[in-house]
Amino acid sequence: MRFSWQYGAVVVASVLLLRVSTVPGQTTSSGLAQRPPMGWNSWNKFQCDVSEKLIRSIADAIVSTGMKDAGYEYVVVDDCWQTGRDREGNLLADPSRFPSGMKSLSDYIHGKGLKFGMYSDVGYQTCGGRTASRGHEFQDAETFAEWGVDYLKYDWCHSENLDAKGAYTTMSDALKQTGRPIVFSMCEWGSNKPWLWATGIANLWRTTGDIHDCWDCKTEFETGFVLLLDRNVNLASFAGPGHWNDPDMLEVGNGGMTTAEYRSHFSLWSILAAPLIAGNDVRSMTPEIRQILTNSEVIAVDQDPLGEQGERSWKQGDLEVWSRRLADGSRAVVLFNRGLKAARVTVGWEEIGYPSGLTADVRDLWEHREVGPQKGTYGATVESHSVVMVKITPKN
Ligand code: GLA
Repeated sequence: MRFSWQYGAVVVASVLLLRVSTVPGQTTSSGLAQRPPMGWNSWNKFQCDVSEKLIRSIADAIVSTGMKDAGYEYVVVDDCWQTGRDREGNLLADPSRFPSGMKSLSDYIHGKGLKFGMYSDVGYQTCGGRTASRGHEFQDAETFAEWGVDYLKYDWCHSENLDAKGAYTTMSDALKQTGRPIVFSMCEWGSNKPWLWATGIANLWRTTGDIHDCWDCKTEFETGFVLLLDRNVNLASFAGPGHWNDPDMLEVGNGGMTTAEYRSHFSLWSILAAPLIAGNDVRSMTPEIRQILTNSEVIAVDQDPLGEQGERSWKQGDLEVWSRRLADGSRAVVLFNRGLKAARVTVGWEEIGYPSGLTADVRDLWEHREVGPQKGTYGATVESHSVVMVKITPKN
């Protein structure tokens, strides 16, 4: 049968309806994370230097910089907020850093129209050596619910002798039992291939170890952006509304990459339908960084309601084409140049599921301009370590 893009659009629309109405499991039927979660997390920039003062000022800046309007919603306090437990075993926040307590911080964040996220770990201790949830899962889930937590990132340090699926199911059940809708973010670094088993347990799962704010470097525990990207090839079929692959948080604006490299990082995370969790100091970001993080046309790709993760559709040496099917039958395409010199990269229609004779409108999502109708292919010169990102929409 000859492929028709109109037929493709009808199939896509039907799949979308089917997914929304029939996805099993409480996490999805409760409607959580139907789009990849967007927000901010303290770890990439501040590590253990967290406090209520910092988090409040970040929440203020998320509103004043337009990040909230762009879709960033969850403000997540990562590791090092805990000091221990009280005599009844309840988790305690560090009183010197969070003197008003977590409920008060949560109220402040909710008062800004944002949502509140926290962090714990499957072991007795977190990665930062703080008190974690092992043996207290149901009690901690209740505490989080009482504090008004909307999102829990749950780490995998000190997980010796634990079965990953079992440990994450325990906290997933504990969160569900509270009755409060809490997005569950598994941070198991892809060690046990969570994409094969975590749908229905969590709303998102890390597919890799930690990101480092660099193009392709490697440290003992962290890896640069393009190496993480490579580890996310071939995982697309496991993601969808309510259950996302998470290639780790954004480093955009943290200073280790060029503006072009950050644009590449943001574009490719959007093609991957990745959670967009900013990790920079949004109180002092430059206009260029703000423009990247709030580019509504690229964010619309990430948040596309079909929820289909994109794939690498072509690669030759340093040059690549990544593409993603969107709910309206169009395609988002990233022409990517990993090389050190500018190069021409071309996408052919057949590679993205269109007939070669089709005429389509092409719009540049970073330049915010119509390129004009193209037939069969679209090519552009892509600078070193850069992308050209377009939306390709068949003409009627
Ligand atoms: C692990 C996680 C990171 C961060 C730190 C906190 O390394 O993967 O994202 O949460 O722990 O200690």
